[in-house]
Amino acid sequence: MTSTAITNLSLCFSRPSVQSDTHDKAVIASSSIPAHLPPNHILIQVDRFGFSANNITYQALGEQPHFRYYDFHAAPETDTVSSKTHGLIPVWGFGSIIASSVSKIIPGERIYGYLAPTRYLLVPVSPSDVNKHAFYVPRLHLPADRRPYNQIIRCAGDPEYTPSALGEDLTMLYRPLFWTAYWFEDWIFSVGYRGATAFLVSSASAKTAFCAAYLIGKRRAGGEANSNVKIIGLTSKKNMAFTKGLSLYDEVVEYGSFTSALGREKWVYIDVAGSDDLNKRVFAHFQTLASGELITSVALGMTTLAPASEKATSLDWNTNTFEASSEIPQLEQFFMVEWLNVRKHQLSLKEIFDRQHRAWADLMVDCVLWVRLERVSGADSVKRAYEKIASTGFSPDVGFIWSMWDDETAAAKL
Ligand SMILES: NC(=O)c1ccc[n+]([C@@H]2O[C@H](COP(=O)([O-])OP(=O)(O)OC[C@H]3O[C@@H](n4cnc5c(N)ncnc54)[C@H](OP(=O)(O)O)[C@@H]3O)[C@@H](O)[C@H]2O)c1
Repeated sequence: MTSTAITNLSLCFSRPSVQSDTHDKAVIASSSIPAHLPPNHILIQVDRFGFSANNITYQALGEQPHFRYYDFHAAPETDTVSSKTHGLIPVWGFGSIIASSVSKIIPGERIYGYLAPTRYLLVPVSPSDVNKHAFYVPRLHLPADRRPYNQIIRCAGDPEYTPSALGEDLTMLYRPLFWTAYWFEDWIFSVGYRGATAFLVSSASAKTAFCAAYLIGKRRAGGEANSNVKIIGLTSKKNMAFTKGLSLYDEVVEYGSFTSALGREKWVYIDVAGSDDLNKRVFAHFQTLASGELITSVALGMTTLAPASEKATSLDWNTNTFEASSEIPQLEQFFMVEWLNVRKHQLSLKEIFDRQHRAWADLMVDCVLWVRLERVSGADSVKRAYEKIASTGFSPDVGFIWSMWDDETAAAKL
C-alpha cells in the first residue's frame, strides 16, 4: 500500500427517503481513504463480488426499518454523495487485506464476506472477536442477530474455500443463497416434510429456488424422503426454457397457466417470488382443489422487489413499508439463524460442519453448468450493468461477477 491517501470508487444509490423519485439512481462516487488507518481497522481491496436478485432485495429493503441493509456500510462523503443521501448495496465478495491496524490480522490475507460495491473498504474489527476462521465488524447500531453479516471469513481457515477463480466465482454466487436453501430443506425435512407429497416453488428460475429444488431432489434420490415427492417449479414465460433445462424440477409451469398442473397432492408452497398478485391466485387455486391440501406456505424470497416491478413501485418510499394484503393468508417465515440455533442443540458442531462440508463439495461439482458466469469489470461498466438489470431484470442463466476494477489482476499488484 502507498503512503499517500488512496482514491476509492463506490457504486452508490440515492436513498428513497431523500429522493423518492430517483430512489434507485446509481452514481459512482470518488472519495479518499487516509493512508494511516485508525486503530483496530482493516483496509480491504474488494476484488470482485456476485450480483443477483438477492442484492436487489437488499437494495429495496435498504431503509426498511426491520432490515436496514443500507446501514451495514456507510456511503462515502463527497460533494454530492453522503450517507444521509445515499446507500451502498451489500454484496458478497472476495478481497484481500492490504492494510491493518489490528494486531492479529496481517496484510495479504484473502477474505470473503459481506462487502460493498467499492474498490476499497475500510472497516473496524473487534480485536477480541478474531479467530483463525473469521473476524467480525462491530455494528452496535444494528440488532445483535445480524452477526452472521458482520463475519469476515479468513479463506486460509475456511474448509469451504476453493482457491481458484472458478471456485471463488461460484462461492460468491451460491454461498449466500445455498445455505438458506440448505437449512430450509433441513428444517422442513426434520418434520417429515409435514407429510407433503409435492412442493411448489415460485420464482423457480432464481438460484435460491432451484437450490431448494436440488436439495429436495437429492434427499429423494438418496432414499431419505418419500420417492414420490414431486417438485414443481413456477416461473415466468421467458424463463421457462432455462428452468426446465436445469432438470431440477419434475415439472415447470408458467405463472399464467399453472392451475391445471396443481392436482390432488399435499402441497408445500415455497414462495421465492413474494408477489401478492401471484400468491392471491395460488391460494385461490388451492382453495378450489377438491381433496388437495395446502399444508403450509413458506416465504423464502422476494424477487418481485426488483426495480420496476409491481411490488417495488408499491413500496411506500417515505416510510419504507409495504402492507401485506389482507386477502393473502399469512406465509410462514423461515429464519435460518433461528433454525441453526435449534440445530446446534440437536447436533454437535462437528456434525453440522461435516454436513455442510459434504453438501458444499457436492454443490461445487453439481452447479458448474447451471448458469453461465459473466464478468463485468470497471466502475462505469458495473453501473451500466446495474442500470440494464434495473430496466430489464435478470436473465437467470447468467451469474454476474462484478468488479469495480478495470483490471482486477493489475489491482492485486498495487
Ligand atoms: N430468506 C433468506 O435468508 C434469503 C437468502 C437468500 C436469498 N433470498 C431471496 O431469494 C430471492 C432470490 O434471490 P436469487 O439471488 O436467488 O435470485 P436470482 O437467481 O437472481 O433470480 C432472478 C429471478 O428473479 C425473478 N424476478 C422476478 N421479477 C424480477 C425482476 N423485475 N427483475 C429480475 N428478476 C425478477 C425471475 O424469476 P422468475 O421468472 O422465475 O420469477 C428471475 O429469474 C431474493 O428475493 C433473495 O433476497 C432470501
